[in-house]
Amino acid sequence: MFSLIAAVGKNLELGRKGQLVFHIKEDMKYFRDITMGHKVLMGRKTWESLPGKLKGRENIVVSRHDVERADLAVSDLAKFIAENEKTKEEIFIIGGGQIYVEFLPHAENIYLTEVEAEESRADAFFPEFDKSKYTREVIKEGKENDLTYTFVKYCKK
Ligand SMILES: NC(=O)c1ccc[n+]([C@@H]2O[C@H](COP(=O)([O-])OP(=O)(O)OC[C@H]3O[C@@H](n4cnc5c(N)ncnc54)[C@H](OP(=O)(O)O)[C@@H]3O)[C@@H](O)[C@H]2O)c1
Repeated sequence: MFSLIAAVGKNLELGRKGQLVFHIKEDMKYFRDITMGHKVLMGRKTWESLPGKLKGRENIVVSRHDVERADLAVSDLAKFIAENEKTKEEIFIIGGGQIYVEFLPHAENIYLTEVEAEESRADAFFPEFDKSKYTREVIKEGKENDLTYTFVKYCKK
C-alpha cells in the first residue's frame, strides 16, 4: 500500500531550486514520526536534496541511473508499483513532484501538511487531485513563526 506525504502551499507548491519552500519544525517532527520504521521512497532529486539517509527507515530511491548509498535503487517503477501496490505494508512516497504524479493513481492515503502561504518562485508542485474521491480528516492545526498549517489525512473512499 502506498501513502503520499508532502507539505504544500496554497497552490500546491513543494519546492524551489531543489529545496523545500516551507520550513516548519513541527512538520519535520510529524514527518519523522509518521514515517519512522517504514520504507520511504523518493525521486533522485529529492534524495540529493537530503543531508543524508533518513535514519530508521529503508531509503528507496528511484532513478534511471546508478544511485549510491540508497538502501534500494529502483529503475523500473512500473514493476515496483505492480509488486508492492497490494501489500499490507504502508510504503511512504516522500516526493518530489515527479514521483507524486506517478504514485497518485496508486495511493490509498495522502498525508498533506496544508500551509497557508504561497511561493511564487516555486518550481516543483504536488499534483492536483480530485478531493471528492477521498475522505478528509484534520489531524492537527498549528502555527509556527508566521506560518499557519493543518495536518490533513486524505483516504481513498
Ligand atoms: N514539500 C514537500 O513535502 C517536498 C517533498 C519532497 C520533495 N520536495 C521538493 O521537490 C523538489 C524535487 O522534486 P522533482 O519533481 O524536481 O524531482 P523528484 O521527483 O524528487 O525526482 C525526479 C527524478 O526521479 C527519477 N524518476 C522519476 N520518474 C522516474 C521513473 N518513472 N523511472 C525512473 N526514474 C524516475 C529521475 O531520476 P534520474 O534523473 O536520476 O533518472 C528524475 O529526475 C525539490 O525542490 C524538493 O525539495 C518537497
